[in-house]
Amino acid sequence: MNMKIAFVGKGGSGKTTLSSLFIRHLAHRGVPVTAVDADINQHLGPALGLSDEEAAAVPPLGGRLPLIKEYLRGDNPRILSAETMIKTTPPGAGSRLLRLDEDNPVFAACARDVDLGEGRSARLLATGAFTEDDLGVACYHSKTGAVELCLNHLVDGRDAYVVVDMTAGSDSFASGMFTRFDLTFLVVEPTRKGVSVYRQYREYARDFGVALRVIGNKVQGRDDEEFLREQVGDELLVTVGHSDWVRALERGVRRPFGELEAGNRAALSVLYREADAAYERRDWGRYTQQMVHFHLKNAASWGNERTGADLAAQVDPGFVLGEEPVAQAVG
Ligand SMILES: Nc1ncnc2c1ncn2[C@@H]1O[C@H](COP(=O)(O)OP(=O)(O)OP(=O)(O)O)[C@@H](O)[C@H]1O
Ligand SMILES: [Mg+2]
Repeated sequence: MNMKIAFVGKGGSGKTTLSSLFIRHLAHRGVPVTAVDADINQHLGPALGLSDEEAAAVPPLGGRLPLIKEYLRGDNPRILSAETMIKTTPPGAGSRLLRLDEDNPVFAACARDVDLGEGRSARLLATGAFTEDDLGVACYHSKTGAVELCLNHLVDGRDAYVVVDMTAGSDSFASGMFTRFDLTFLVVEPTRKGVSVYRQYREYARDFGVALRVIGNKVQGRDDEEFLREQVGDELLVTVGHSDWVRALERGVRRPFGELEAGNRAALSVLYREADAAYERRDWGRYTQQMVHFHLKNAASWGNERTGADLAAQVDPGFVLGEEPVAQAVG
């Protein structure tokens, strides 16, 4: 199985920190993991131990959109050219699908192996830096669009994880990116602002059956804990306190992963258990329907006009993404 996990939350809540810890946790358990930095501030590479120069040298997915589109389109007759392929264009018969355990031109162009130390590594992909201006429904060159395209074309790769560090911004709601995961971890600080981002996200999530779990971060003491419990209720999965291990890493001191605080290690085990259990609830039919839903929405609101084509015609009605994709002729 191949699990798609997102870490979202407001700026500064700890998305990058917690996704990097989760990535390390998986790597230390021998789980192949592909880390995707899709956050406005591109900090996942450094959080995984890359120097700033090494992180800056990771080729951005956003800069390789033509290559990505040309590859994924394959010989799908419904997609007439890479130019008419937008971030929501769904795969169909003839499309090329991505597998985590294979070599392909997309990974060859953009993925880099990151040495996590202690004999562990992860594969890293990055969207490239973007600003709030890059976000929004009308963004043809959206940086996160490359990630959405890849997620929509991703199939099995056994027992591997994709972990995406991303912003909880409006872009992910407009494009449908927020529906692309088996489980979404929403990182919330015990503040009113943190909780309000949670409420907004939950509204969208509910309408689309998105599985959401809240991680309280920077939780100090019982008052913080009670505040979150009261505001979030059952969706609060775990809380994480201040980590000296994380702080040391920020000072450039890399301690063995086993020295991460016991409480925080226990929290990571809970995340893994929860993520693994999400596989049972996966529904490829719904997953495919949702990508079509968001594609039609994007086509009507800006895509048709921008490309001068009828993008609704890109939808292959007989296609269902899955570990064994189904493509049947619809008469
Ligand atoms: N549990 C923690 N213990 C210690 N420091 C933490 C913890 N969580 C986050 N931090 C620190 O808080 C700061 C913000 O965290 P981080 O960069 O992970 O947040 P973010 O949500 O990814 O932010 P951005 O929106 O800027 O991408 C960092 O300096 C990080 O090291
Ligand atoms: Mg970040």
